[in-house]
Amino acid sequence: MDSILVRGNGALSGAIPIAGAKNACLTLMPATLLSDEPLTLTNAPRLSDIATMTQLLQSLGAEVAALADGQVLAMSSHKISNHTADYDIVRKMRASILVLGPMLARDGHAVVSLPGGCAIGARPVDLHLMALEAMGAELDLRDGYVHAKAIGGKLKGAVVDFPFVSVGATENALMAATLAKGTTVIKNAAREPEIVDLAQCLRKMGAQIEGEGTATITIQGVDRLHGATHPVVTDRIELGTYMLVPAICGGEVECIGGRLDLVGAFAERLDAAGVSVTETARGLKVSRKNGRINAVNVMTAPFPGFPTDLQAQMMALLCTADGVSVLEERIFENRFMHAPELTRMGAKIEVHGGTAKVTGVSKLKGARVMATDLRASVSLILAALAAEGETVVSRVYHLDRGYERVEEKLRACGAQIERIKA
Ligand code: UD1
Repeated sequence: MDSILVRGNGALSGAIPIAGAKNACLTLMPATLLSDEPLTLTNAPRLSDIATMTQLLQSLGAEVAALADGQVLAMSSHKISNHTADYDIVRKMRASILVLGPMLARDGHAVVSLPGGCAIGARPVDLHLMALEAMGAELDLRDGYVHAKAIGGKLKGAVVDFPFVSVGATENALMAATLAKGTTVIKNAAREPEIVDLAQCLRKMGAQIEGEGTATITIQGVDRLHGATHPVVTDRIELGTYMLVPAICGGEVECIGGRLDLVGAFAERLDAAGVSVTETARGLKVSRKNGRINAVNVMTAPFPGFPTDLQAQMMALLCTADGVSVLEERIFENRFMHAPELTRMGAKIEVHGGTAKVTGVSKLKGARVMATDLRASVSLILAALAAEGETVVSRVYHLDRGYERVEEKLRACGAQIERIKA
């Protein structure tokens, strides 16, 4: 397993291009299963999770070609030749469950293994199943698989009222509803930019959708969807992560392609912490307002709230802030696994259930640490960039799931970072 070696060396400045969103791409790719015509995605990120979804779609009979150095995904599902998403692929990535809705909507049946993914809590798929059941699917859970059949061979429009917000369940329901007979209303829908991106792509394919980006999405089912070409929206989590580089190290970084509307609540917390974010013609420019970072409190919430996927990185920043910060994790129940690793670098963090109290220290110190999940891994890299001495982050395969060319992007700003091949 590869590791990453970082030597903390002060302020970092430069320009960092932000890739297309992993989480948007992972829901746009299964949309290819909804149509027998080609779907082409541009601005795709080059990540191992995308390779896993490629493998999964290919196993179902889709053709997926990565063109333009992986930034264009040309997909075609003339026919779904296999309706079983196998455990061996699905276990690697939770987003695999997103093939269930499209397969069921197009052909009336599907078998999908229950997913794996990051170890950040129980993360069941009951809401995905609830939505599909409401739309007339008969579900049978056996041998670790969901066996799904549309009663009468076709899903039907329904009111899907989620008891709480789920990004993935909204995506599955939205895709399934495009080909269902009649009208579907999704209530308490997730409002994430990735949902808006998916709705926009589905609309280009001929779907009739209204209300994406709000809590109620209405879909009028159509008989078939056609081909389309769609650019993947900017990755707001990668954007937020790189916005933290000058915040934590000093210096000035311009995030190319960054948009303030994608990171509103996060930018507001950065502002309170003493970080200036300004819009430029090319993206967002970030630097400290003065030398210090103030302690701030953070509470994660569904969009437009502070994203759980930036909580670990924000914690890295607050480790050296002036005073005590409290971070409250409201989306996942076990998402502070980075805290003990940051503590190894000299951070002062106390975790009680879903709350972490971070008392700022003047300097972090390099250490050997271990990445425990995707966002935790990058929080350790951020901390290492600001620490005194050398840090080795092991198990960086987590990082490769969600950040493309991270060493290259950081080196361009003056970071001393290299990958140690196992
Ligand atoms: C997506 C993102 C992930 C992000 C998360 C929350 C992708 C591929 N991943 O994950 O990076 O951290 O949104 O912003 O887009 N839940 C249930 N039952 C369900 C579904 C979810 O109890 O059927 C719970 C989860 O355990 C979690 C919460 O709901 O506590 C939110 O999860 P959800 O929004 O579904 O996250 P994902 O779509 O898995």
